[in-house]
Amino acid sequence: MSDRKVVINKKQIHEKVAALAAQISADYSGKDLILTGVLNGAFIFLADLTRAITIPHQIDFIRVASYGNSDSSSGTITLTKDIELDCKGKHVLLVEDIIDTGATLDWLTNKFNDQDAASVRICALINKKERRISEIPIDYIGFSLERGFLIGYGLDYAQQHRHLPEIYTLQP
Ligand code: IMP
Ligand code: MG
Repeated sequence: MSDRKVVINKKQIHEKVAALAAQISADYSGKDLILTGVLNGAFIFLADLTRAITIPHQIDFIRVASYGNSDSSSGTITLTKDIELDCKGKHVLLVEDIIDTGATLDWLTNKFNDQDAASVRICALINKKERRISEIPIDYIGFSLERGFLIGYGLDYAQQHRHLPEIYTLQP
């Protein structure tokens, strides 16, 4: 296996999650919020974020296929698991591990807007800019990165490494 190097450590993740949760709690106070995790990558981030949010909210998950077992996008997006809550009139906050081309979240934003959600916003732990195709507005960003491939804290390479507690780059 290739070597790995920590790029975002536990303390940095913890502090960032707390700051994002405080902002979300203030912004959505008094609103019907559905925290919508994009599986699989967002499961750990969402688990930490939801416990740091101090206002009532619902949680659901959605899954789309776009990557397969590769580190480059296949370019097509298919819905493989929809949310089960009714999002009509509710405020949907999409929670994603990392935004790369932006195609996934562009597609998901349109989907929830078509279903008459009251609002659709995006919270991404990592914003990776180099390969952006869809210039979608990202309302809450944890960390920004120009390029590279990251693993750990939910992020995978070929479905491995999601359990690692910090965020690493894979070194060849
Ligand atoms: P997008 O549609 O190109 O923005 O794809 C975003 C998805 O690609 C993320 O949810 C991840 O599943 C995957 N992805 C992109 N970059 C990375 C990375 O550096 N590590 C792990 N997964 C990544
Ligand atoms: Mg993902």
